[in-house]
Amino acid sequence: MTGDTWGHNRLGHSLQLSPTKIVPMCGIVGYVGDNKSLEVLMGGLRRLEYRGYDSAGIAVIDDEGRLNTAKRAGKLAMLSNELKRNPISNGSTGIGHTRWATHGGPTDHNAHPHLGDNGRLALIHNGIIENFAPLKDELLAEGFTFESETDTEVAAVLLGREYQRTGDLGEAFRSVVSRLDGAFTLLAVHQDQPGVVVGARRNSPLVIGLGEGENFLGSDVAAFVEYTRRAVAIGQDQIVTITPGAVTVTDFDGNPVETEEFDIAWDASASDKGGWSSFMAKEVSEQPEAVANTILGRIIDGQVVIPELTDLGDDLLAGIRRIVIVACGTAAYAGQTAKYAIEKWAGVPVDVELSHEFRYRDPVLTADTLVVSISQSGETMDTLMAVKYAREAGARAISVCNTQGATIPRESDAVIYTHAGPEVAVASTKAFVAQITALYLFALHLARVRGALSPEELAAQAAELQAIPEKIQIALKEADTVRQLAMWMSDTRAVLFLGRHVGFPIALEGALKLKELAYIHAEGFAAGELKHGPIALIEPGQPVFVVVPSPRGSAHLHPKVVSNIQEIRARGARIIAIAEQGDAAVLPFADTVIHIPLAAPLFEPLLAVIPLQIFAMELATAKGLDVDQPRNLAKSVTVE
Ligand code: AGP
Repeated sequence: MTGDTWGHNRLGHSLQLSPTKIVPMCGIVGYVGDNKSLEVLMGGLRRLEYRGYDSAGIAVIDDEGRLNTAKRAGKLAMLSNELKRNPISNGSTGIGHTRWATHGGPTDHNAHPHLGDNGRLALIHNGIIENFAPLKDELLAEGFTFESETDTEVAAVLLGREYQRTGDLGEAFRSVVSRLDGAFTLLAVHQDQPGVVVGARRNSPLVIGLGEGENFLGSDVAAFVEYTRRAVAIGQDQIVTITPGAVTVTDFDGNPVETEEFDIAWDASASDKGGWSSFMAKEVSEQPEAVANTILGRIIDGQVVIPELTDLGDDLLAGIRRIVIVACGTAAYAGQTAKYAIEKWAGVPVDVELSHEFRYRDPVLTADTLVVSISQSGETMDTLMAVKYAREAGARAISVCNTQGATIPRESDAVIYTHAGPEVAVASTKAFVAQITALYLFALHLARVRGALSPEELAAQAAELQAIPEKIQIALKEADTVRQLAMWMSDTRAVLFLGRHVGFPIALEGALKLKELAYIHAEGFAAGELKHGPIALIEPGQPVFVVVPSPRGSAHLHPKVVSNIQEIRARGARIIAIAEQGDAAVLPFADTVIHIPLAAPLFEPLLAVIPLQIFAMELATAKGLDVDQPRNLAKSVTVE
C-alpha cells in the first residue's frame, strides 16, 4: 500500500498551495563548466528518468582529454551500479541519456551514447530518424561498422565522418542534420573539443540552462533546475553550441537566430517526492492546488479573463463556427469532458478526436474552425503533427499545455497553460484535472465573448469552478475506503466502468488508469450502451464501477443510471458506485458506495475521477507494481 496519510505526506506536512509552473520531459542532459559532469549528468537523469527508463548512459571528456562512456540497460540504478563497479573519470564536459526504446530492444548495446570517429565522438538522441536505413547502407558501403541496431548509431557514425571532413563539431552537425528525416534531439561531444557540447532539435524538445561559467542542455528544465533557473527554449530546426562561457544558437544553415530567455518558475524540490511513497501519490494529493493554480488570475470579480488569448482577439473567437479538440489518452478524455461544457455554455459544436486518427482521415477544416490541442507534455508527436496539419489547412490552433517552452505551444496561435506543477508519474492525474479546469475557463471565456451567457450566469459557473479545489480535498479523504477496496480486489482480472453524459469520459479515464497502472483489462462504457451488447460481459462477481450523476442536478439521468445498476446487479455484478454525498437511491443496489461532494453536474467529473485514480494506484501497489514507471510506457510519446 502507499501508506500515505491523505491530506498530509509522511512528513506530516499539510498540503500547501505550492507555487507552480511546470515542465516535464524525456531523458537528455548536456553539461560544460566545472569538473563535475558526473554529478550534473546523473542528477539530471534522475529527474528525467520517468520519461524513459529502458536504459541509461553517459559520456564525459575528462581533464586528460579522454572520452569515457558508461551505459547499461534497465533503470538508472543499473548505470549507477555500473559506475560504482567501473568508475570513470570526472570532467568538465559531458552528455547523458535515459532511453525509451524505439529502434532496437532495451539492451546494453542499444543504450546511448553511441560512438563515431573511432570512439572519439559520443552522441545521444531522442526521437526517430526515419531514413536511417539508406544512410546506414551508405556508411556500410564506405566500410564503416556498427555495434547496435539503432538509428542513433547511424547518426553517430555519420557525424564522426563529417567531423573528420570539417574538423569542427558544429560544422559537422550542420552537415548531418540536413540529411536526417524524422524527429530528433541530438547532443554530441568530441574528445578533440573539450568544453564544447553541440545539440540540434527537430520535432523534439531541447532547452538551454544558463549558468555562471557553466551551461546546460536538457530535454526538460528538470535536468538542470537545481543549478540554474534561467532557461532558453530552442526552436525547430536549430543547432546550439554551449561552452562554459558562451551559448550560440543557429538555424540548420548556420545563421544566428534570436532566442528568448525565461525563468523557471519552480524549484528542484517541486520535482522531488516530498515524502510521498511515489510521485503519483504526491501528484494525486496536489490536485486541489493544480486546479487552484490553473484558475489563479483568470477569474476576476466573477468574470473569466485569459490573457493568453488577447492576441488571438475576441472577434476571431466570436466568429468560430466549430471546435475540434485533438489529444491522446488521458488528455483526450479531458477534451471529451470539456465538450459538454463548451457546447452548453458557448453554444459552439465540438468534435473530440484522437490526434493520430485526426491527422490521417482528411478532416474538413475551414478558417472558422478552431483546433484546441491538449497535452501535458507539449511534446506528444501525434498531437504536434495534428496541430501542424490543422494550421496548414487554415484553421487556428490553441494549445492547453502544462509545459512552458514546449513544442506544441510554440506551434500554436495561443496557449493556455495549466499550472499543475511538474507531473513526474507516467500516469497523468493532476494534469488531467488542470486540463479540464483550463478548458472550462476557455469555455466561459468563449461564452462571454459570444454573449452566450449573461454576466450572472458566467459568475455562477466561475464560482462553481472556484469551489472545486476544496471539494477535491474532501474527495481525497475517501482514500482509505478506496484503499481497502483495492486490497479486497487485488486479484481481480477484469473491471468495467460505466458513466453517462460527463460521467462517460470519466469511466473511460478510470479504465485507462487501471490498465496502465495495474495491467488489468478494464473497459469504460456509456451506461446506456450496456443493453446494446456489453451486458453480455456481466457474470456473477464481475466488478463494475458506476459513475452516478447527481440526483439533484441530473434528475433526468440519475434514475436511468440507477436502473442500469439494477440490470447488472440482477446478473451478479459487484457494484462500486461513485455517488454524490446523500444519494440514497443507489444504496440498496451497490455493494460499495464511494461518496463525492455535491457539485453542479458539469463539475462532477473533477471529483468522480479522484477515487478512480486512487483505486488504480492502490491496486497496482497491492500487486507490487511501480506506479510511477509502468511497464512499456513513457511519460511523453515523442515519436509517432
Ligand atoms: C495518461 O495517464 C497517459 N500516460 C497518456 O495517455 C497521456 O495522457 C497521453 O500520452 C498524452 O500525453 P500528453 O498529455 O503529454 O500529450
